[in-house]
Amino acid sequence: MSDIQRAPKGTFDRLPPESAAYLAARDTLVAPLLTAGYGYVETPVFEETAVFSRGVGESTDVVSKEMYTFADRGGRSLTLRPEFTAGVMRAFIEHRLYAGALPAKLWTVGSAFRYERPQAGRYRHFTQVSVEALGVDDPALDAELVALADAGFRGLGLADYDLQLTSLGDATCRPQYRELLTSFLAGLDLDEETRRRAGINPLRVLDDKRPEVQAQLVDAPLLVDHLSDSTKAHYDAVRQHLSDLGVTWVEAPRLVRGLDYYTKTTFEFVHRGLGAQASIGGGGRYDGLSAALGGPDVSGIGYAVGVDRTILAAQAEGLDIAVTSGIDVFVVHLGEEAKRFAVGLVGQLRAAGVAADTVYGGRGLKGAMKAADRSGAARVVVVGDRDLAEGVAQVKTMATGEQVAVPLTELADSLRASV
Ligand code: HAM
Repeated sequence: MSDIQRAPKGTFDRLPPESAAYLAARDTLVAPLLTAGYGYVETPVFEETAVFSRGVGESTDVVSKEMYTFADRGGRSLTLRPEFTAGVMRAFIEHRLYAGALPAKLWTVGSAFRYERPQAGRYRHFTQVSVEALGVDDPALDAELVALADAGFRGLGLADYDLQLTSLGDATCRPQYRELLTSFLAGLDLDEETRRRAGINPLRVLDDKRPEVQAQLVDAPLLVDHLSDSTKAHYDAVRQHLSDLGVTWVEAPRLVRGLDYYTKTTFEFVHRGLGAQASIGGGGRYDGLSAALGGPDVSGIGYAVGVDRTILAAQAEGLDIAVTSGIDVFVVHLGEEAKRFAVGLVGQLRAAGVAADTVYGGRGLKGAMKAADRSGAARVVVVGDRDLAEGVAQVKTMATGEQVAVPLTELADSLRASV
């Protein structure tokens, strides 16, 4: 097979019937947001590159290695969004939403792009549901976001996951901790590249997965032990609200997310049934992001769920999240007159809200019955020119095999009543 007959590396096509699971998962993850005052926002699939390089941070893999960046014909540097938060914040600033009612509660869903090494659960083109509450710094809001993400997963029936939670401090305590960590890291045996990263953001070294690095980090100072009084109070309040909301978590003092903008509350949902790519969602507060993008000094908190990975997690738990076929009535026709009748009946049923389909392409009775069977319809109407002359159609109930002749004048109503 040649390359033009294959989706690009790290991408995949969503096809029926499996695509039904995607739609169901997406809608279930979004459902809690619609009960909590969140409004839908849509931003462009690409932004000025600086939105991400400044927003997400130069020390991250996402910015330094994974962005799809290109020059357009006007010579602008644009980047396919590797995540949504920076673009949503850009829109918040551009449209001066900070001057309106706060928090601005926003959600979005769609494609994100990262040039990562593809493996199970890690793609170059993937889908996120991303949620942000902007302009208010209140621990109760942090708890709301965490609880909404959790509710989305629970809505799908997921149970085998941990919510990892920590606080990454703020501008008052992070710099001191950075110094502490930097002098600790200076005494370790690290390679050139890791030292370079540590120079930009020493916290990122804590996230290094290599055992030889992790072994040296056992006694590393932890940020949670060096939080300022106000950040600690914020974190305590978040945990209190989470308890009140019935959300359980595990403390994760070494959690460092893959994006640089996080401050204070930071979290990740990690599924136990997945391999290396076990993070099904994550987020946190990002009090400096607006200012980093040239906006006012306002705070924000949010999370994103990886829809593709969530589907893998559901499969790992044996959950059937797909909605089935969706066809209630299938109409099989024999003869020219019957075909006209069938096309009309299907239109009439659909207009009445009954999911209906018929056979196309003149496949003969056997092929038509096979198509009817495959459609999953509970009722199959068989109508031939002779039936029409007699003013009836045969209606078969697939579950029982029972077949009755129904007068054409009553057919649509009777089918509608039966679904
Ligand atoms: P993130 O942790 O980079 O956070 O991504 C969120 C989720 O997207 C991950 O937990 C994972 O499920 C999914 N994901 C990320 N990369 C891939 C990939 N290559 N293939 C498949 N799934 C992937 C963010 O993107 C932040 N913007 C979240 C956020 C919103 N923080 C605050 N507001």
